[in-house]
Amino acid sequence: MNILLIGSGGREHALAWAIANSPLTDTLFCSPGNAGIAHEAEIVALNIDDPAAIISFCNLNSIGLVVVGPEAPLVAGLADKLRSAGITTFGPDAAAARLEGSKGFTKDICAKYNIPTGTYGRFDNEPDALAYLAKHSAPIVVKADGLAAGKGVTVAMTMDDAETAVRDIFAGRFGAAGAEAVIEEYLEGEEASFFAICDGATAVAFGSAQDHKCVGDGDTGPNTGGMGAYSPAPVMDEAMCRRTMDEIINPTLAAMAAEGAPFQGVLFAGLMITATGPQLIEYNVRFGDPECQVLMMRLKDDVVTIMLAACAGTLDKVSVRWRDTTALTVVMATEGYPGDVQKGSVIGNLDAAAAMKGVQIFHAGTKRDDSNIVANGGRVLNITAQAGNVAEAQGLAYAAVDAIDWPQGFCRRDIGWRAVAREKGTA
Ligand code: AMP
Ligand code: GLY
Repeated sequence: MNILLIGSGGREHALAWAIANSPLTDTLFCSPGNAGIAHEAEIVALNIDDPAAIISFCNLNSIGLVVVGPEAPLVAGLADKLRSAGITTFGPDAAAARLEGSKGFTKDICAKYNIPTGTYGRFDNEPDALAYLAKHSAPIVVKADGLAAGKGVTVAMTMDDAETAVRDIFAGRFGAAGAEAVIEEYLEGEEASFFAICDGATAVAFGSAQDHKCVGDGDTGPNTGGMGAYSPAPVMDEAMCRRTMDEIINPTLAAMAAEGAPFQGVLFAGLMITATGPQLIEYNVRFGDPECQVLMMRLKDDVVTIMLAACAGTLDKVSVRWRDTTALTVVMATEGYPGDVQKGSVIGNLDAAAAMKGVQIFHAGTKRDDSNIVANGGRVLNITAQAGNVAEAQGLAYAAVDAIDWPQGFCRRDIGWRAVAREKGTA
């Protein structure tokens, strides 16, 4: 069948790579795409904010499946519109995508259906939010309610910081995403990402990962979209995965169905593994980026078959198998990221690095300029390696990083440190 993938990041390159390998795929199209995705798919220039244009493209090109990568079009209702036009689409409709689009909505669902998460308050004005803060103590977490590209969260270690965060939100720093604020309990433990593919009624566990959000080594410096990840997350052993399915994922799926907004697509739970078990930090309604890159490396089964089962409501007949390996990805970014970056620097020696055994290079912000690949954004490359354990995958990924000739790029040098220490018995 012909498939259309929407998106342009490293996540979408990994999805394109997996989808292009499926025996079910005839032609894969991608929009907007990037220079790496162009190896796997035919790039098409579509305005992804224009559902009518996407629908007519699908009809003209006999598209049998649309896969929506990022959250913004899902929250905006792209999947609803495609499905209304009779086009099979992997990804939640707008009502279900509120699990990512509104942190307050998710907290209310958790409260109503007894899903473990921190205590919280929801506020649409500054005085009430400050009054709530006055009754609590630091550390405490202040969040803009809506989509803020990962920048709307302040983990406040002092009450001063918490108050500043509240004032920033109501001063309009996050635009419409900050019309409301959520203030929540600070959870302590180890963080992990857990994924489930859902068809509205059934959820199938789809692996775990840990990412590194801070820009600097040792988890220091400002937050980013993610500087690296590895899968599986050692803290997510079989028992913890089962508890997460039983206590968090399955109750959420049942809750969304009961609320009249059944969830179809990828449910990505950001978890804190606390002393009493898994607690939900937040939901995303799509694959993580760069977590998707490591999941696709380890996936043994055909991703298109799994996505089609989610669309058809037949996931109860599907099982998902993984390679018994660790995959680790290192993000290379343009210097200056997560601040402003200069576009256009030339990246050399990519082919030699990609040819290393066990290595896949997924592109994020890249562009082809004549015969060169040039940087076209903040996060640019995902150097991904698969090996028998975390230390080996880490060594291989950094060997490939070192083979790349890109003076204007940088990466963290310690991706996977926690898992490597655990492997060595020093954690
Ligand atoms: P989010 O964008 O909601 O994933 O938040 C970004 C990061 O803030 C998370 O990955 C956590 O490290 C941290 N965080 C968010 N909420 C909490 C919480 N309730 N307790 C502790 N840390 C949190
Ligand atoms: N890497 C975190 C995210 O995709 O939200």
